[in-house]
Amino acid sequence: MGRKRLGILTAGGDCAGLNAVISGVVRTAAIHDLEVIGFAEGYEGLLHPSTARLLSQEETRGIELTGGTILGSTNKGKFQSRRGADGTLALPESLIRAARHSLDHHRVDGLIVLGGDGSLRTALQLSKSGINIIGVPKTIDNDIDATDVTFGFDTAVSRVAEAVTNLRSTAESHRRILILEVMGRHTGWLALHGAIAGGADIALIPEVPLDSERLTQFIKKSEREGHRSLVMVIAEGTRAKSGNQIRQKTSAGDSRLGGVGHHLESLVARCTGRETRCTVLGHLQRGGTPGAFDRILGQQFGVHAVALAADGKYGRMVSYRSGEVTEVALADAVNHRRNITPQSQILGHARALGIFLGN
Ligand code: F6P
Repeated sequence: MGRKRLGILTAGGDCAGLNAVISGVVRTAAIHDLEVIGFAEGYEGLLHPSTARLLSQEETRGIELTGGTILGSTNKGKFQSRRGADGTLALPESLIRAARHSLDHHRVDGLIVLGGDGSLRTALQLSKSGINIIGVPKTIDNDIDATDVTFGFDTAVSRVAEAVTNLRSTAESHRRILILEVMGRHTGWLALHGAIAGGADIALIPEVPLDSERLTQFIKKSEREGHRSLVMVIAEGTRAKSGNQIRQKTSAGDSRLGGVGHHLESLVARCTGRETRCTVLGHLQRGGTPGAFDRILGQQFGVHAVALAADGKYGRMVSYRSGEVTEVALADAVNHRRNITPQSQILGHARALGIFLGN
């Protein structure tokens, strides 16, 4: 019969720490006498079982230090289960059958899925169809409510903070207003944490609708007070008071969040007469080597995911609560977005630090 096997795949947009989870899974599986088979390119690999491969200790040694994912990933493809901001698409029965066939073919007892909200929605549907699933929450957006933090977030915050710090010196030299557009989808965790860590003057986030008149007043006041420069961070999902978000057309013909920074650049230049420029940080936030926190958290998540599988505790997602790794029901974890609320401590702290929040 051979040894019991776990499958693993990395789904959705990548982030720092995916390889750390894979490393944690492979190292711990050996202790439990389990084999690990990796599926390529996210869920799509389930449709191409011949591309799956057994992951050895040798192949995965030291990968926790590296960015990206050795398995490949995609946030496109047939298994997408997100429609718009909050809607869920039902997976066709034929896809679920194909996934099960592939897992049976490789004698997989349980599948560990590393994914953000969209990929975990898919995981939940597979779990409800009877497939043994364990979810591991990944995203730079940090928008999954059932965990205090997702891996990938901390490294992305460092990237934003570094960019803000670097923008400051050139902004000071040229008496400019510099805008940094960052990712985060419909939440402002990345923008707000990055703004605080990098020493930005302004942080604009989706949860706080932008009042452009107040923003103009803040900029003019700062000029009167003799400040040479202003650095502002704006999350890609930031809304005007009207509720509109700025979207860009993709080459595939659909649209994605993005472009709000340049929109703001024109608005600020027009309303204040100041030289204003925008930088879009883009995928620098997702790429590169993970920071220490994400290396540790990723590996801890991997260890815990295998422990759950060894105990047959499927339909769960590993989670980080109050400094400890634990787990929650997958059904309770998906579809609950973690937003910054007026009660969020970080919002009050940002205000206390004198960071203008756009309202
Ligand atoms: O969810 C992670 C994320 O990086 C978002 O912050 C961002 O909106 C999106 O993915 C970008 O995806 P893509 O790489 O497909 O443009």
